[in-house]
Amino acid sequence: PRPILLTRHGESRDNVRGRIGGDSVLSDPGEIYAKKLANFVEKRLKNERTASIWTSTLQRTIITASPIVGFPKIQWRALDEINAGVCDGMTYEEIKKNMPEEYESRKKDKLRYRYPRGESYLDVIQRLEPVIIELERQRAPVVVVSHQAVLRALYAYFADRPLKEIPHIEMPLHTIIEIQMGVSGVQEKRYKLMD
Ligand code: G3H
Repeated sequence: PRPILLTRHGESRDNVRGRIGGDSVLSDPGEIYAKKLANFVEKRLKNERTASIWTSTLQRTIITASPIVGFPKIQWRALDEINAGVCDGMTYEEIKKNMPEEYESRKKDKLRYRYPRGESYLDVIQRLEPVIIELERQRAPVVVVSHQAVLRALYAYFADRPLKEIPHIEMPLHTIIEIQMGVSGVQEKRYKLMD
């Protein structure tokens, strides 16, 4: 069995401000998480010389992975966060106030709702297909440092969760989800590295 480790980036400055999307750097707690993650990965993958670290192309995942040394890193655009289109950079409160119809349609069908000039969860699920194929093909451990919406979709694939649940899966910050693919199916462990 070989592990796949899934984690969100450390808390970003936009997370603190409640802003979605964007390309901000980490908050102070986010920076601490990056160091704790590196520590965890170095211990967990000590004897796994062929492991690799996959990030999105956004700063907050690249910075989160930066303290991890000794493994190759690959940036995937397909691991970027759901594109919130015209709502990029807004808070949910601002969307509710300035674009109430958009807010309501998303609430009604979060899976299918597509942000104007952006993406839906279904779009994200579709663009993850090459990532999933490559993850399945890998024989060595992979650490995936990505984003909430993307990780919901990836996790649902491995944990065999129904499509309609995907936008609502809990995906906390500063927590590693370890997926073990073995002969007897998929096993899961969670490591909460900080609050
Ligand atoms: O910035 C996007 C969020 O991480 C996605 O969260 O789909 O629950 O709004 P949401």
